[in-house]
Amino acid sequence: MSNIITAPALDIARIRADFPLLEGEMRGKPLVFLDSAASSQKPQQVLDALDYYYRHQNANVHRGVYELSQQATDAFELGRERARHFLNAGSTQEVIFVKGCTDGINLVASSFGRKFLREGDEVIISAMEHHSNIVPWQLACEYSGAILKVIPINDRGELIMEEYKKLLSERTKIVSIVHVSNALGTINPAKEIIDLAHERGIPVLLDGAQATPHMKVDVQALDVDFYTFSGHKVFGPTGIGILYGKKKWLDAMPPYQGGGEMIATVSFEKTTYNELPFKFEAGTPDISGAVGLGVALEYIEQIGQENISAHEQQLLEAATKQLLAIDGLRIVGTAENKASVISFLIEGTHPYDLGTILDKLGIAVRTGHHCTQPLMDRFEIPGTVRASFAVYNTMEDVDKLVAGVKRAANMLR
Ligand SMILES: Cc1ncc(COP(=O)(O)O)c(C=O)c1O
Repeated sequence: MSNIITAPALDIARIRADFPLLEGEMRGKPLVFLDSAASSQKPQQVLDALDYYYRHQNANVHRGVYELSQQATDAFELGRERARHFLNAGSTQEVIFVKGCTDGINLVASSFGRKFLREGDEVIISAMEHHSNIVPWQLACEYSGAILKVIPINDRGELIMEEYKKLLSERTKIVSIVHVSNALGTINPAKEIIDLAHERGIPVLLDGAQATPHMKVDVQALDVDFYTFSGHKVFGPTGIGILYGKKKWLDAMPPYQGGGEMIATVSFEKTTYNELPFKFEAGTPDISGAVGLGVALEYIEQIGQENISAHEQQLLEAATKQLLAIDGLRIVGTAENKASVISFLIEGTHPYDLGTILDKLGIAVRTGHHCTQPLMDRFEIPGTVRASFAVYNTMEDVDKLVAGVKRAANMLR
């Protein structure tokens, strides 16, 4: 937690008021929502945008000559432009709408894999990947005969960079790493990972599912080749996400799926493909999702990612300190650089039991392996309780979590 910056006082009460669901009760208690790493709540601005789209602009995009279709297309493409701005991509040609982070990784693993992976080649991932950055690469390796290599981590949950350097070789065809770990909170040294790979001309994909809600991401400053994230974790709708890819790679890759929209011409003899980004967007897209995502990203930018990071770091620091004071509590993931995710265990209790009691107190946390089974195996644990904070969480939420955990631990031991 060395990257604490002083937060200009955000008006959290005002921010919370944007999120209707947070005003509700759960099991007769005010809801304490600490599972934003799984999916964030949605502000009124996003809900209004979805409602407006369906009431006033709904039509298919890029097809009709009529005015309504043009309006829908403009609203959809505004979502893309907002995503381009959010990531500071050079061009909207490099911004592809996908279903989410999982879909973005599958697109690259499948399409890049078909074009560039051959028997004996290597793909590097890490020991802290979400299943969605493991399984697509396993499939790509299965089809191509390439080999999956895994960067190990230390006991704090940090990548062992010396081991990464050793794994990079002329056989490595791509490196695909999580930017921020969903299970540990570790913020990986993205720039260093990319620079080391680029020294050998190897492209890098970053899984930004957990980074984009918490910090400013600049794909040009990172010089990253592919970057993907999910709309629903950044206050946007489910079913929509972004894959950023450098034009030179996207141009070289074959389409992921075939269908309408991704073609230039079709005949039974030969089909030619549409220009970027449409080459990778087969079929009718999630138009309202793109509209809602654009508004969500604008919402984040209006608050300011640095302000969000600073606020969340204060919550993380307070929660870490108070939770560690509980007898028998162990935090899994103690990296120097962490986002606002705390995974923990209490000696003599099962994470599921803890989570169930917290739920009865109106506190929503995640329990289990967090789609990172190999990581849980690395720590020799079945899973953890995970509390994750977003900008709408408060110190009161931290206090309720700590009080709830104490109470649950006393009941279970
Ligand atoms: C680090 C990470 N990668 C990928 C994903 C997959 O995201 P989605 O299920 O939205 O595609 C998640 C979701 O929790 C995640 O935390």
